Amino acid sequence: MASQGIRGPSYRLVQGNGKEIWDMRKEAMSRPMSLSHNISLKVQPHLESWANMYGRNFLQWIGTQHQLIITELELIKEVFNNKNTDYSKTKSKGFEKIFGDGLVITTGEKWAKLRKLAIHTFHAESLKGMFPAMISSVEMMLERWKNYEGKEIEVFEEFRFLTAEVISKTAFTSSYLEGKKIFDMLSRLTLILVMNFFKIRLPIISKFYKTKEEIETDMLEREISSCIMEIVKRREDKVKNGEEDSYGSDLLGALITAHHDADETKRISADDLITECKSFYFAGQETTNSLLAWTVMLLAIHTDWQEEARKEVVNAFGQHNPTPDGIARLKVISLIINESLRLYPPIVSFSRTVEKEGRLGNLFLPSKMDVFITNLAFHHDPKIWGEDVHEFKPERFSEGVPKATNNNSAAFFPFGLGPRTCVGMNFALIEAKIALSMILRRYTFTLSPTYVHSPFQLITLQPQHGVQVMIHPL
Ligand code: HEM
Repeated sequence: MASQGIRGPSYRLVQGNGKEIWDMRKEAMSRPMSLSHNISLKVQPHLESWANMYGRNFLQWIGTQHQLIITELELIKEVFNNKNTDYSKTKSKGFEKIFGDGLVITTGEKWAKLRKLAIHTFHAESLKGMFPAMISSVEMMLERWKNYEGKEIEVFEEFRFLTAEVISKTAFTSSYLEGKKIFDMLSRLTLILVMNFFKIRLPIISKFYKTKEEIETDMLEREISSCIMEIVKRREDKVKNGEEDSYGSDLLGALITAHHDADETKRISADDLITECKSFYFAGQETTNSLLAWTVMLLAIHTDWQEEARKEVVNAFGQHNPTPDGIARLKVISLIINESLRLYPPIVSFSRTVEKEGRLGNLFLPSKMDVFITNLAFHHDPKIWGEDVHEFKPERFSEGVPKATNNNSAAFFPFGLGPRTCVGMNFALIEAKIALSMILRRYTFTLSPTYVHSPFQLITLQPQHGVQVMIHPL
């Protein structure tokens, strides 16, 4: 790589650059920042500092794994749009405990089979059918908010319950309480995995000795699987006993049906079934939770936009609940959501593994090298968005993404790019629009003086100390 002009921090035995990365992140997390949207240095401190030292494309090491950070849009498009399987999703250490070899990670025919099942569940007509469940979940949340009127409320946690309730009701047709144990265990598992991601241990040692955390993650993984299997078994029993004639029309029903498919090519294993449930419980909740919290934080500061959005919602729905047609027509809210996804994308980075050595632009990449891409850097690049890049200006999207990005549409990719783009994108956008519409119709809100600005990455981009706002009934 050096002979191709690629430089980077020196490799250290066993650890690679893991310890330096972790130390920089810990340091960034130890102090809040001013209320600015220029968050790259805070969220990805090592990438910012090393890009300044070694150039925008550089090489870093996570343990013994080499990672090439790429920042040229043409290279990124090539990686994401690759039709062959030259770049696979990176199997990050430990994260198989959440995503297994399921839709989020797998490739080839298995990916196509799982993707088809998910698309079927989240297509436009199915999404319309999910409106009542989404609306009743928001109503439940707003019932709780009545206790906080005129006071402060922490919305990141509120949206955690909301998004968990929504994915439970829509994809699994069960209540949040039924899924609660699974969500709690998934949150704990995520925390341990992220905290340990940069701590590298010699494989030979981990083979014979497990740390307390490794024992806990194994236990959590087993417990989550058995909770999911209990839910699955209840549905299977109902069909066996003749109480129901199908496994259901939601995502879980589609997965159980595929598990029992007589055609072997369409069938999925019990492990795949569990993995898909875990992935959707996780992806369906954490990401939209992040989007809603950052959007409310932004609207709490930019009350002029909050007022614009409220006017639009009142015009569209009056005192009634949101409808599919009305949600599809919301213009101001869409601009606000785009700007929120630009400044605070819930997923800030992507990784792919080079399967077969070959060319990427002018570079020759060896197989098994990871290619690392950060959308945060693109979303905050003044060359693409202009000098006001760190300002909250939803109007920049009013004439579409090409205009906003100076004809570099691919530089805005909160939901990814190419065939692996987010399968839950429309679901998430509808959920966010319904929630925002219903909140705006009921409350005005401002940022509480107790709010401490500290965005950090725990797989998704999260507010380290929550988002505290003061709510006032209209
Ligand atoms: C604001 C909310 C969301 C954001 C920003 C988001 C972002 C993303 C991104 C960036 C990817 C691509 C990752 C990559 O290429 O490596 C992705 C993939 C995925 N997302 Fe989302 N997501 C959101 C909501 C959801 C929801 C609600 C669900 C499920 C109901 C979901 C399920 C998935 C799945 C299953 C994949 C993997 C798709 C594949 O590889 O074929 N996401 N998401």
